[in-house]
Amino acid sequence: MDEYFKYNTAIVRKVAKSLPEEAQRQSPESSPVDWENTIKQHDNYVNILRNEIGLKVVELPADEELPDCVFVEDVAVVIGNKALVTTPGHKSRQGETDAMRKCLHDLGLNLTIMKDMDSEALLDGGDVLFTGQEIMVGVSSRTNRSACAVLAQTFPEFPVTPIEIKSGLHLKSFCSLVSPGVILLSKKTAEIQKMGENIKLLAKKKYQFLEVDDEGVSANCLYIISEKLGPSIVHPPLEKYPDSKKAYKSLSGVRLFSCDCSELAKVDGALTCCSILLTI
Ligand code: GLY
Repeated sequence: MDEYFKYNTAIVRKVAKSLPEEAQRQSPESSPVDWENTIKQHDNYVNILRNEIGLKVVELPADEELPDCVFVEDVAVVIGNKALVTTPGHKSRQGETDAMRKCLHDLGLNLTIMKDMDSEALLDGGDVLFTGQEIMVGVSSRTNRSACAVLAQTFPEFPVTPIEIKSGLHLKSFCSLVSPGVILLSKKTAEIQKMGENIKLLAKKKYQFLEVDDEGVSANCLYIISEKLGPSIVHPPLEKYPDSKKAYKSLSGVRLFSCDCSELAKVDGALTCCSILLTI
C-alpha cells in the first residue's frame, strides 16, 4: 500500500488576485480574505513541500479569470501513473482543467478526460479519498454518481465507494488518510458524525479510524512518503484542536509539519486542495 504515497512531485498553482472577491464560498458571511496573508501562507505551503519534505514542485501560473484556480486538487485525480482530469462540479471552475491537462500530459502521465467518458459526470477531487486500497467518493453538491462510474472505469484495480455528503463542501472537508490504513475523522457535529458512520459502514476494506471532536478542517492533512524524510504529515495548526493534536501525535514514525491555511479556508480551501501529489 505504501507505494502509492511515495511521492516525488507536487503540482500547485499560484493564487489568483481575483480570489478574495470572486472565489466560490459556501458562507457569504465568512470574514474577508487578507491577500498578503494568503500569499504568505501559500508560499509557506509550497516551501514545506519543496524544502522540508523534498518534493519537486511544479507551479502553474494563476489565471485571473479562474478565481479558485489555486485549488488544483479538484481538477485531477492521480493514482500511480494514471491521471483522470475531472469535470469540476461548479461551472466557474471548469476552465481550470485546461492548464492541468497540459501539465499532466507534459509530465508523461497516462491521461483520461472525464468529459470524454461521460458528459454528465461531475467530480471535484476534494471528494476523493484514496486509501491505497479503495477510492472513497463524496457524492456532494459538486460530485455525482456518474463520476463514481468513471472513477471505477479509470481505476478498475480499486473498489469505488460512494459516501453521501450532507454538510460541508467535500468528503475531505472532514476526513483524511493519516497513514496507510488509518483514517482521521472529525465528529464535530451530528451531521459530520453521521457521514463518518457511513464511511465506517460502507468501507470495503479494513481501516483504523481516529475520531476527533474538533472541526473538520483539523482532520484535513497531506500524507506523503518522500525519499528525503520518509512519512510526513502536513496538518493545520493544532492549538485550537487539542483532540486532533493528540491523534496526530499518536502516529509513530511520522514527521509532522504545521501549515496555516486559514485565509484559503475562508473560501472553503484546505491543505489537500492546494496540491496534486504524484510520482514521475
Ligand atoms: N472555493 C472553493 C470551491 O468552492 O470550489
